[in-house]
Amino acid sequence: MDYNECTAKNLTKKETEYMTNKQPKWLDEAIFYEIYPQSFYDTNGDGIGDFKGIMEKLDYIKELGCNAIWMNPCFASPFGDAGYDVSDYYLAAPRYGTNDDLKQLFEEVHKRDMHILLDLVPGHTSVEHPWFKESMKAAKNAFTDRYVWTDSIWEEPRGMGCIRGISDRDGSCAVNFFSHQPALNYGFYEPDPEKKWQQSMEDAGPLATLEELKNIMRFWLTMGCDGFRVDMAGSLVKHDPDSKGTIRLWQNVREFLDKEFPDAAMISEWGEPDKSLEGGFHMDFLLHFGPSHYNDLFRCENPYFASNEKGDVSKFVDKYIENYEKAGRKGLICIPSGNHDMDRLARNIKGDNLKIAFAFLLSMPGAPFIYYGDEIGMRYVEGLTSVEGGYGRTGSRSPMQWDHSPNAGFSTAPAEKLYIPLDERDDRPTVESQMADENSLYQEIKRLISIRKNHKALQNRGEIQFVYAKENTYPFVYLRSDEEEKILVILNPSDREVSFACNYVPKEMIYSFGGNILVSDGKVTVPACFAGYYIV
Ligand code: GLC
Ligand code: CA
Repeated sequence: MDYNECTAKNLTKKETEYMTNKQPKWLDEAIFYEIYPQSFYDTNGDGIGDFKGIMEKLDYIKELGCNAIWMNPCFASPFGDAGYDVSDYYLAAPRYGTNDDLKQLFEEVHKRDMHILLDLVPGHTSVEHPWFKESMKAAKNAFTDRYVWTDSIWEEPRGMGCIRGISDRDGSCAVNFFSHQPALNYGFYEPDPEKKWQQSMEDAGPLATLEELKNIMRFWLTMGCDGFRVDMAGSLVKHDPDSKGTIRLWQNVREFLDKEFPDAAMISEWGEPDKSLEGGFHMDFLLHFGPSHYNDLFRCENPYFASNEKGDVSKFVDKYIENYEKAGRKGLICIPSGNHDMDRLARNIKGDNLKIAFAFLLSMPGAPFIYYGDEIGMRYVEGLTSVEGGYGRTGSRSPMQWDHSPNAGFSTAPAEKLYIPLDERDDRPTVESQMADENSLYQEIKRLISIRKNHKALQNRGEIQFVYAKENTYPFVYLRSDEEEKILVILNPSDREVSFACNYVPKEMIYSFGGNILVSDGKVTVPACFAGYYIV
């Protein structure tokens, strides 16, 4: 579908009356920064980032304008999947510090009026988790039903990978992702009556797993974290084609949180806000997988935000409107700059186009999420051998580039001791160089964030109406509004001047990159490589 002034879907006040999920107030203005702890800042010279390193850099994050953090998993783990393979949910990974250090990190975050989410991995553990070791035993015990097991080694759980032949227990254990990540048992939405091993969500084993999940959440929330990003949140209940079981499970968690931790925020790695927000999450991501067309923006053969004018934003917009109408008022739909699983933003989007991409990311509804290093245009490091289960993702996980000292200031360890190699190129961007340059990406993002903070219409809960988002066409135009203001956002990533018909009269420019628009007779001419915000 095409959108212009005539067809623009105007969401009326009534349609947008919210909200069914009680939202922690702080989410209304939250701007997140994702920290991949192993690659952020190393303070003890062992080549791996740590909690103390994050504490030392909190002022940097705050100065950029972010007021919230999502930190990737930091629990005890053999690190076969970068910590998404937990071996003790109640213990900080010693390489990052102690539980006390983590508690101190929470406190340092709060001292700065910021918030921090931990990464919760509810779907699976490491094979080294003591629960799994118990579960592998032939004799029945308290953990026999903690994971999804068939009752014979000769039967594999259909549609899932499995672990088999490494235990005395006669059965195959389903896995969720890598083959060393056995699936925790939350039951089956539609258990097959012929297969006794498929337990229902109400059976004792699945209920015990869910209670343990709440205990884990209670433990860290009591210690001071502000909520969780939830890993693979949409796949906990098995044989659950429309996710109804998984939605019900999360509604149960929501009830517990509302009662005990009403300010805790929950964001799902799900990618289908209509489902996750119904499950009680406050926010969901649009991601590189799932139906969102997020990849059309930055990560496909012809991304919309590249300069060659070959992109298409219309399918993304169609899907966005669908989600927004179904779920957008229950919670926040968040569009990240990237994350530890995707190619770096700067792999496909170059130069000034990165600024235009951020003018988009920082003017959309939902909480913005900036992946560490994206604010300085850190590049994907090509050709790395996989580190800790990263595979193709390894190049997006290289150490943060702080300054011009050895190892870009990340660590004092010898370069070969860094747990992941740095971007070796001489012209690698650093925080130091970008801070010193008024025209850098870093400075542009800082400006964009401060503009967002000064205009409620641009923030997480402001309305959005798409004004011009035609198939294979530039520019891309939308209106953000609240009771006080209407702001027209005009984006032209292409390297050619373009124009569009517009019924709004831009009155005051509050942001522009790449020149200024020309308005005559309802026609707006937009310079090549341009982003602008106008009060109308
Ligand atoms: C999520 C994480 C990813 C991890 C996977 C398995 O997608 O973001 O890094 O490998 O889950 O836990
Ligand atoms: Ca360290």
